[in-house]
Amino acid sequence: MDRLDGSARLMIVSDLDQTMVDHHDTENLALLRFQALWESEYSQDSLLVFSTGRTPVSYRGLRKIKPLLTPDITIMSVGTVIAYGEEMTPDVGWEELLNNRWDKDIVVQETAKFPQLKPQPERNQGPHKVSFFVDKQGAQEVINSLPQKLQECGLDVKIIYSSGEALDVLPRGAGKGQALVYLLEKFNLCGKPPSNVLVCGDSGNDADLFSVPSAYGVMVSNAQEELLQWYEDKGRDNFKMIHATERCASGIMQAIAHFKLGPSVSVRDLEFPYLKVDTIKPADIVVKFYVLYEKWRRGEVQNSPSVMQYLKSITHQNGTLIQPCGTERSLHACIDALSSCYGDQQGKKFRAWVDRLVSAPIGTSNWLVRFDNWEMEGDAQYCCRTTLLVNMKPETPEGLELTHIHKTWLEGYSAGSEHTFIL
Ligand code: GLC
Ligand code: MG
Repeated sequence: MDRLDGSARLMIVSDLDQTMVDHHDTENLALLRFQALWESEYSQDSLLVFSTGRTPVSYRGLRKIKPLLTPDITIMSVGTVIAYGEEMTPDVGWEELLNNRWDKDIVVQETAKFPQLKPQPERNQGPHKVSFFVDKQGAQEVINSLPQKLQECGLDVKIIYSSGEALDVLPRGAGKGQALVYLLEKFNLCGKPPSNVLVCGDSGNDADLFSVPSAYGVMVSNAQEELLQWYEDKGRDNFKMIHATERCASGIMQAIAHFKLGPSVSVRDLEFPYLKVDTIKPADIVVKFYVLYEKWRRGEVQNSPSVMQYLKSITHQNGTLIQPCGTERSLHACIDALSSCYGDQQGKKFRAWVDRLVSAPIGTSNWLVRFDNWEMEGDAQYCCRTTLLVNMKPETPEGLELTHIHKTWLEGYSAGSEHTFIL
């Protein structure tokens, strides 16, 4: 929670499945577009929060197969688990609050009396989350009678139905919305309320998020019937909420533009040659550098010497690059090596992106930028922890130049691997 010195400019709280992550988009295009926007424009002064129905185990499984950024905060198991940072340190205080009028054994016992409830696999269950599969009609019967039965046993629960198939029984005080309210109270207490909050979702368990009064909301175009119905019933005159016309992460970018929450154009959508920038942003130059690198190798930018000229113009001619294996080369020699790789990844599942980017000023005209540099080739992912020195240089198109890049294999990402990072 302490990553930012002041209030977050924007706090995005997004569901994952079918909101941030489009399971129909095998290329993950919308996700990568949103994330490039986030890293270049927001990562240094804003907060990214994922809020998912998945348990920590199931969330980690998703991270292995999708090129997701590392969020500042992860709300899991339908708002029953809150965890901070990349270490995912759990908020024990939150879980204690949820013990109020809750007894998982009794919930399991009472729900077993409904034959239509098919328990979800064990990996989907949590200390404060008992989950089932059930059709719409079967769910309605449970919603009508279970809370009453549990109340007689001294329990107070909330039942949430999502995606026309999943039913969760949670403590009354739980849910994605309550978890967000709890976080906002914490930020208020330390005097750092976010300037704007945007919540994003697609299914029943997200309705809770849209109930948080101070937040802007976006239901992505592909939102589920039960959420749209909820919107019809309760939210229609809530002017801070839209039903996007774009799917998933593209819908989130649409909402940023609609509510004028800040820049909404992703570096991935910029045409080359790039326009000269009017404000210098070290994070932005780094994201541009790797997006252009990816497009060059995928053959998605024109095969023109102007691309190499641009890369050379934003890198110091005596700059160096230290590869993860320890080899040191001149930056311009690496750019020359890249020049002969035009289109070598054309039509392949190749992507490059950055995560956990931190830009720290050194004096008045230099920055040390640290980030995880990811490359996906086929189904394999590789990652280098990367440090890069940026200098102010008004005559370059970005007003900045990169002088020194140092890469080390991220722990667990195959030292000695065959994979080479060209830049
Ligand atoms: C996710 C979880 C599942 C839950 C559903 C709805 O799909 O994996 O356990 O029931 O969200 O909240
Ligand atoms: Mg979802």
